[in-house]
Amino acid sequence: TKVGVLISGRGSNLQALLDAAQDPDFPAEVVLVLSNKAGAQGLERARKVDVPTGFIDHTLYEDREDFEKDLDAKLREAGVQIVCLAGFMRILTPWFVEKWRDRMLNIHPSLLPAFKGVHTHERALEQGVRVHGCTVHFVRAEMDDGPIIGQAVVPVLAGDTPEALSARVLEAEHKLYPACLKLVADGKARVSAEAVRIAEGSE
Ligand code: GRF
Repeated sequence: TKVGVLISGRGSNLQALLDAAQDPDFPAEVVLVLSNKAGAQGLERARKVDVPTGFIDHTLYEDREDFEKDLDAKLREAGVQIVCLAGFMRILTPWFVEKWRDRMLNIHPSLLPAFKGVHTHERALEQGVRVHGCTVHFVRAEMDDGPIIGQAVVPVLAGDTPEALSARVLEAEHKLYPACLKLVADGKARVSAEAVRIAEGSE
């Protein structure tokens, strides 16, 4: 399964996907990495392993859909079958989301539906939750919404700072994203009635 990854920055989740795809038994390969930020560290990570990259500067487009049309064209040219959002900081229009319905994944640093949006770790600490974590889900037009493929839970520890909690969650993200992509690429996670059913026998 050919995967395109959209990023805006650091790309540590992209790295986790690239690393997983090194295994010949992994059912997906990253064929294209696109960023809307020129200096994104993730572009460098892709180049290091000879994965084609592209930069699409959203500031050059007046219309969000025109930007997304170019994004879509590049993904299709590369034969992409599944799109993974990995720290991609642009809100996508319903047009784009529908084009990739059930074929676009996102990772979010909270246990959805709690803490949608930004600053999830700060908010988790403020709320005093005792567990926190991350979620991989199919993308729907509403932000950080859509059928959940997988979640990983981490404890919130006494004395946690947002940084410490974020590092703990990030470690979990790097395991969760490849695992969920594998489920989808293997056809073992499917959307039915807007919830994901995981095939029996899947880890
Ligand atoms: C991650 O915390 C991810 O969950 C969120 O944005 C961050 C991206 O980090 N969507 P990175 O670019 O993958 O290192």
